[in-house]
Amino acid sequence: MPEAIRPVETLYKGQETLEGAGVRLRRLFGNREVPKLDPFLLLDHFGSADPHDYVAGFPWHPHRGIETVTYMLDGRVAHGDSLGNEGVIGAGDVQWMSAGSGIIHQEMPEQRDGLLRGFQLWVNLPASEKMSTPAYRGVGTDEIPRLSLPTGGRVHVIAGRHDGVEGPVRGIPVDPTYLDVELPSSTTLELPARRGYTALAFVIDGSLSFAPGAPAVRADHVALFGEGERVSVSTGPDGGRFLFVTGRPLREPVAWYGPIVMNRPEELSQAVVELRRGDFVKHRAPVLEE
Ligand code: FE2
Repeated sequence: MPEAIRPVETLYKGQETLEGAGVRLRRLFGNREVPKLDPFLLLDHFGSADPHDYVAGFPWHPHRGIETVTYMLDGRVAHGDSLGNEGVIGAGDVQWMSAGSGIIHQEMPEQRDGLLRGFQLWVNLPASEKMSTPAYRGVGTDEIPRLSLPTGGRVHVIAGRHDGVEGPVRGIPVDPTYLDVELPSSTTLELPARRGYTALAFVIDGSLSFAPGAPAVRADHVALFGEGERVSVSTGPDGGRFLFVTGRPLREPVAWYGPIVMNRPEELSQAVVELRRGDFVKHRAPVLEE
């Protein structure tokens, strides 16, 4: 039997949303789409050269039960967290943060003008890992393999594999693939997408056709794929660029309150009590004694 090409099952164009202290962004999917994109919970795309859209940033806030994945295309964001990590995420860098039992962090633009563009994806944690020790992974653009394709174009391998090359982000419970793919005009690329796994693409630039003869999907849309073994991507005269993301669905109940995603409502109430009481964060940066 020939390997089946996955059809596009649903298109998401998202909606404009204000997040953090007033950052204008586009939420491609979120709370309302659960559990369609399981194990993925949310995808935000921010992209603006107008500082009014981003300077307010994302001041200190908590997370529990999920992983937040920030991928910058342009600009610089400074971050800090309750584990003691701090630094700047620049163009091409990735921050893959596993909140586990609880983290408090902030993400603030490190610029007052110019283009700031990137993504934040929320990846769910299985019930067994929701209260695990938080883990922070900062991956510089130099650590991300860039594979040149025989037909032209490039694949940046952030997580998972392409053509035998593994990305630097490993050991994630839902076994994700996260690729940034740039294709020249009038070319076709096939990408494996394991049967049973959720697979999606976000079109960054150009317009792409995801099956022979299928209508083109324009920039700023998410295509969620139906079942099959691989995804076929064809470009028109302008070429295209897209994120390609796959992962193993968890098929567990989702209880969601803002930045906290657990399995049962009682776990959300517990988190709120702990936030008020001041014992939400279970693992802190060591405090140096004076
Ligand atoms: Fe956050």
